[in-house]
Amino acid sequence: MRWIRAAGRGLLVLVVVLTGYVASGARADDTATGGRGPLTLATAGDLTGYLGRLLEGWNRTHPDERVTLVELPDSADETRAQMATDLRGDQRGRFDVLNIDVNWTSEFAAAGWIRPLPRDRFPLGTFLPPVVDTATYDGRLYAVPYVTNAGLLLYRADILEREGLDPPRTWADLEEMAGTVAPKYGLDGYAGQFLPYEGLTVNAAEAVYSAGGTILGGEGERVTVDSAAAREGIGFLARGVREGWIPEEALTYKEEESKRAFQSGRLLFLRNWPYAYVGASAEGSPVAGRIGAVPLPGPDGPGTSVLGGSNLAVSSHARHPDSAARLITYLTSERVQRQVLTRGALPPVRAGLYEDPELVRRFPYLPTLRESVLTAAPRPKSARYDQVSLVVQAVVHDALTGRHTPEAAVRRLARELDAITR
Ligand code: GLC
Repeated sequence: MRWIRAAGRGLLVLVVVLTGYVASGARADDTATGGRGPLTLATAGDLTGYLGRLLEGWNRTHPDERVTLVELPDSADETRAQMATDLRGDQRGRFDVLNIDVNWTSEFAAAGWIRPLPRDRFPLGTFLPPVVDTATYDGRLYAVPYVTNAGLLLYRADILEREGLDPPRTWADLEEMAGTVAPKYGLDGYAGQFLPYEGLTVNAAEAVYSAGGTILGGEGERVTVDSAAAREGIGFLARGVREGWIPEEALTYKEEESKRAFQSGRLLFLRNWPYAYVGASAEGSPVAGRIGAVPLPGPDGPGTSVLGGSNLAVSSHARHPDSAARLITYLTSERVQRQVLTRGALPPVRAGLYEDPELVRRFPYLPTLRESVLTAAPRPKSARYDQVSLVVQAVVHDALTGRHTPEAAVRRLARELDAITR
């Protein structure tokens, strides 16, 4: 038996030696090839379940630079918190490439968590113009646009047709139809994403922007929210809950819950991102063939959507920065961007795809979406965006539950935002 133990010891030595060899080999490789090797890609919940398959294409052709997908929760705030925990500190974390929400670029860059990228390495000129700005901070490129997004109003076309009505263009139209037509059919009127998380910040900002207001001015250092427009915007949402044409249940909705309510035929109108329109139109959906999408309404005509989407960034501690950049080039190539739309139901950042006749035939909402993206308003660019958003969520939720009047909510918003930006 002694030989087994001896062999075991020998094996151990061999393993140690080999591990040391591989480790130093990898280090040598890093410098020799500019940092090529395996990667991890962290992303928020993949709501359409396409990204793993899409990365298989890369893994097949790049066996030495394989990427492992790490899927985080589908609430933007929880994803941000997990990424921040991973990136904070001097130690290398688990994540090399990060699919970050467009509004996190400033915070992550200012904190030194992600590294600046050379502009000439990526096809920035082929992207829709507003998305490139979300990837820059302090005049430098810190990420590469990957997916864009703009809110749309989904509606039950079958019901409006039966009533001889056009889809709403103004808040008054929406309120009227949500309040009177929906109950006639046993439906709830209108919902968006009203749980306190990033989605509520988005919905509140859209209401404020649509009424002509703003939340922060300049580069996010001036508080501009104390205005009649902000009161009107928050008042619109609060009135909906008070009058019942926004169901109370909507105060618990994120993207997925609100999509399910609409897709199962319980809602007349839904504010959501285009992926929800694609899902609700797909074969097997109870409302397939019976829905439409238009730009978000505002007080006197079309309103303003918030610019959504995500950018690909490279962690400052990335193990293989060259491979990280190569993966980003792959994911933003025209071929893969097309798959982002056809397989992921997500809006690509490549401008040309919105005018591709074959894609427009398959995704008839593309021209509306393009307009909505081009006219969408970005969220405030602030290195303290996370705190700004937390304040907006908390205060607006209190206005929706009736704890505050819209006037009091706007005053409190101004006060609390002032404390953050000061
Ligand atoms: C979507 C958008 C993103 C936004 C989030 C809010 O994922 O693309 O920008 O922050 O929804 O829930």
